[in-house]
Amino acid sequence: MNHTMHRPPIVPLSDANLAMATHLLSQGKLVGVPTETVYGLAADATNGSAVAGIFAAKGRPSFNPLICHVADREMAERLVIFSDLAVLLADAFWPGPLTLVLPKRADCPVHELASADLDTLAVRVPTGPMQQLAAMLDKPIAAPSANLSGGISATSAAAVAEDLGDKVSMIIDHGAPSVGIESTIVAVKYGALFLLRPGGLALDKIEKVAGRSVQSVGQDISVKAPGMLSSHYAPDMPVRLNVSNVHADEALLSFGPNKVAGSDRALLTINLSPSGSLAEAAQALFSAMRTLNKSGATTLAVVPIPQTGLGLAINDRLRRAAAPKDMADG
Ligand code: TXA
Ligand code: MG
Repeated sequence: MNHTMHRPPIVPLSDANLAMATHLLSQGKLVGVPTETVYGLAADATNGSAVAGIFAAKGRPSFNPLICHVADREMAERLVIFSDLAVLLADAFWPGPLTLVLPKRADCPVHELASADLDTLAVRVPTGPMQQLAAMLDKPIAAPSANLSGGISATSAAAVAEDLGDKVSMIIDHGAPSVGIESTIVAVKYGALFLLRPGGLALDKIEKVAGRSVQSVGQDISVKAPGMLSSHYAPDMPVRLNVSNVHADEALLSFGPNKVAGSDRALLTINLSPSGSLAEAAQALFSAMRTLNKSGATTLAVVPIPQTGLGLAINDRLRRAAAPKDMADG
């Protein structure tokens, strides 16, 4: 018997390949598609069996809802109801790394599996190939990050192939995403803004446009993103955060110009941004984690990262990478 795994073509971005990907999506197939944040595992959001295929491919708990990607706000308005505040944010930041959680329209065509039967839907307009495909398909595209459930997000076509290679029909290669960390997710509710996930759009930018603060959801589980509580982005080895001292045989995730004590003992070190730029660090985070994960180290040691701007999103991902794995999710 031949046990050779099916390997999908990794193809460059071109009109012909976008047309082929559109065709595959319309046939209910899964396609690996880059966005400015991370690579997504894309399917036609209106096709229940295609959406079920996403959960199966990732091994993701089916109660965790998916983000629907659309070409523009007009297309989003076929799915959800926009308040004035939601329009303000969409027009300021789309296309870009902002996901809005809004009330679902009664006639929303998205399959209930994609929204986990909630009365809200997460929508965003991405840049690049994902936006082009949503326009060409003229349907919302459901796409979680293109990694195995609970694992490290993919920021290259090769990483998508590594995790999901035998489950996607095609992967569009468009290099490293410019933002590198998932979208910021904000719920707009009762004229207020609630942060469901820090991400690639810094909060101060949102607050400046909205003219009000983004509230943290705290213990209010009802508005929380289901993926908020659990282990996620996890490497195979334990993670130590905020280290001031490196042990022998550890892999080291470093940041900024300062050297941490014992760093010479590290098996492998990657500095996310020697100059201390949080944007550069966000962009480099997931590929660095994937590389360090393969180093053979006993533990991943991580230096403190400033909790400002994009540092909120970076620290969120690192905290979840360090969380106990029996809470694995998304
Ligand atoms: O940048 C991104 O957002 C990437 C790219 C591919 O667009 N996508 C992404 O998707 O990160 P995913 O599935 O890995 O994370 C989506 C998050 C999950 O934590 C999910 O619980 C939350 O969005 N979510 C989706 N719909 C929601 C809803 N109606 N209410 C609250 N949270 C929701
Ligand atoms: Mg994810």
